[in-house]
Amino acid sequence: MSADARMHGGAHALAPRTDFPLLAARPDLVYLDSAATAQKPRAVLDAIQAYYTTTNANPHRGAYALSAAATQAYHEARARVARFLGVADADTLVFTRGTTEAINLVATAWGRAHVRAGDNLVVTRLEHHANFVPWQQLALATGAEFRICELDAAGTVDLAMLARLVDARTKVVAFGQVSNALGTINPVAELVRIARERSGGRAAAAGPARGTHEGALVVCDGAQGVPHLRVSVDALGVDAFAFSGHKLGGPMGSGGLVMRRALLEAMPPYHFGGDMIEWVHDDHTTWNVLPHKFEAGTPNVEAAVGLAAACDYLDALGMDAVRAHEVSLTARALAALRAVPGVTVYGPATAEARSGVVSFGVAEVHPHDVATTLDVHGVCVRAGHHCAQPLMRALGAHATVRASFWVHSTPDDVARLVAGVQAVQRLFATA
Ligand code: ALA
Repeated sequence: MSADARMHGGAHALAPRTDFPLLAARPDLVYLDSAATAQKPRAVLDAIQAYYTTTNANPHRGAYALSAAATQAYHEARARVARFLGVADADTLVFTRGTTEAINLVATAWGRAHVRAGDNLVVTRLEHHANFVPWQQLALATGAEFRICELDAAGTVDLAMLARLVDARTKVVAFGQVSNALGTINPVAELVRIARERSGGRAAAAGPARGTHEGALVVCDGAQGVPHLRVSVDALGVDAFAFSGHKLGGPMGSGGLVMRRALLEAMPPYHFGGDMIEWVHDDHTTWNVLPHKFEAGTPNVEAAVGLAAACDYLDALGMDAVRAHEVSLTARALAALRAVPGVTVYGPATAEARSGVVSFGVAEVHPHDVATTLDVHGVCVRAGHHCAQPLMRALGAHATVRASFWVHSTPDDVARLVAGVQAVQRLFATA
């Protein structure tokens, strides 16, 4: 991409707005809700269109060339996404509708098989509901204890408390790579080390080949990490990793679960139906090999192909460049918002400690009023509890306003946000 192209549509964008048909059609729109869902690059839309106009058939089923081509497209998409995620064994990537389904899969299929009364499950106060409620419900269903690791004074996971909570009866330690509500980047290696040591597991063994399970199952919600950081799932040393494709420019309903091969092979299926079986006898059924065992029914090839195109798009930009761009914008937004009297910024002090997320409140104005007023000024932000009510209770805030940046965001977008916040203050001061 040329420097001219990068500049088109806004100075200092990493990617031009013209790469995103929706943004190109709405030149005045400031889209600061990428943490909720990313806008889609034209390359992703083109890949989906090309799939349907040249290759569409039901994969794994037809004895004709078009079906084989669809099977091949699906297979290649999995390999591409696995490479983007740093997963060497692509068949340990199970496509799901996204992070929520991936975590529910593990909580249901693995959890019901392994968790008993007297065990405990540990999550953190930072979690999105998708990485909180499935474990809470598993605990309620099994009689296991549900333990919540609180945050320290700096608002980050209290590692000393985590070490106290995890013990030999801990069956699951679940945490996010990055907080969706505050942008906090968790020290995953430290969390894994504590989970392993305290639960009696071996020291973190990178790579799926060494994946027999001992101690707690370590589960990482990567939904807010993958779109913004260079991620190598194999190197993280977790047992299960969930992510969403729509947050990195892929289609809604795309995403997946990466899990150590030995765990996936031992785990019972989650959904039953076509494609996930080997032999169906009258009185019992045997299961297909990975990853098909966990992908019942006609697969979402469109989602996989689009997600693979999103990986191509981000790799062309460079994930290190994505990260540097977001740190720069986040630092600018933190400084500018903190300088506005009456604005409270939540979360880590520095841009380096967060992804491209800034959560804040405006004194005397409800976050929903802030967001709807910003919308009048053409600025899209999310307001509410961000699917993180347990965290909001700890913050002492019912809700916050959240601005989130991505590759097309610019300093001008930050300036429009800050000007919009000042307009909110003027409006509500005179109301
Ligand atoms: N999980 C998405 C968010 O944080 C929807 O906004």
